[in-house]
Amino acid sequence: ADTLGAAAAARGRYFGAAVAANRLGESQYVTVLNREFTSVTPENEMKWDATEPSRGSFSFGNADRIVNHARGRGMSIRGHALVWHSQLPGWVSGLSATDLRSAMNNHITTLMRRWQGQIHSWDVVNEAFEDGSSGARRNSVFQQRLGNGYIEEAFRTARAADPSAKLCYNDYNIEDANAAKTRAVYNMVRDFKQRGVPIDCVGLQSHFNAQSPVPANFQQTIAQFAALGVDVQITELDIEGSGQTQATNYRNAVNACLAVSRCTGITVWGIPDHYSWRASGTPLLFDGSYNKKPAYYAVLEAL
Ligand code: XIL
Repeated sequence: ADTLGAAAAARGRYFGAAVAANRLGESQYVTVLNREFTSVTPENEMKWDATEPSRGSFSFGNADRIVNHARGRGMSIRGHALVWHSQLPGWVSGLSATDLRSAMNNHITTLMRRWQGQIHSWDVVNEAFEDGSSGARRNSVFQQRLGNGYIEEAFRTARAADPSAKLCYNDYNIEDANAAKTRAVYNMVRDFKQRGVPIDCVGLQSHFNAQSPVPANFQQTIAQFAALGVDVQITELDIEGSGQTQATNYRNAVNACLAVSRCTGITVWGIPDHYSWRASGTPLLFDGSYNKKPAYYAVLEAL
């Protein structure tokens, strides 16, 4: 195969990119998107601040643009992200516990029903754990007001809203099986599976750089999550660096996924370097002129 999407499909996986609605009018961007990728994740357009800027008042225009583009070309869609402490409009943090619970459930239900049957996987809860060695829940407004139970409540609400979507827990710095944060997420997923809380997948964001490189045990981490009975997806892959070093790191990350049958897809967090959220770096597969980088060829060969 001579594209990422076709090569991944031959291995039974999707290969996706984070997409920004305001780039869909750029012909080079769309050409590469349509040629190379079989899945999209709206980079910002489905987040709470974009979709419900004031309580009960929803706006779906930019998200619809991406959904329509993807559906018209047979690409699958990852919904991102329903419950997250970041890019959260100010009104949410001002609510009482009772109001926050109903606002959270209404937000989940409204978004999932909007695209019911059209979203392959939803990131139901994003980044709910602290960094560092504590393994604690992040001290978000959801955690403060609703306590530990908010995560499973979000998943139960999500299952009822669109039973056809796979429901994922998504986070970063959970790529190293030995890290406290990884163990904490692992324990939560194991507990959910034991108690019948509906969860189908774990998303490993996989934002790698010199401080946080592709861990040597990445494949083992993926396999451990998969052994709990969930799919695993690499959901926001980008790797700082350049040249053959970056290419090798990308190859290792892709191979880790391919080695685990329940690792069902890989999404890179952007298409050309100059549109990466890592504004100063070059962490993606295409350069600023949409040329294929060494990392691109390494991924294509690995697939
Ligand atoms: C980033 C986007 O790429 C930026 O455009 C935005 O300004 C901030 O959010 N973890 C996530 C993603 O789950 O939603 C984040 O995306 C990157 C980190």
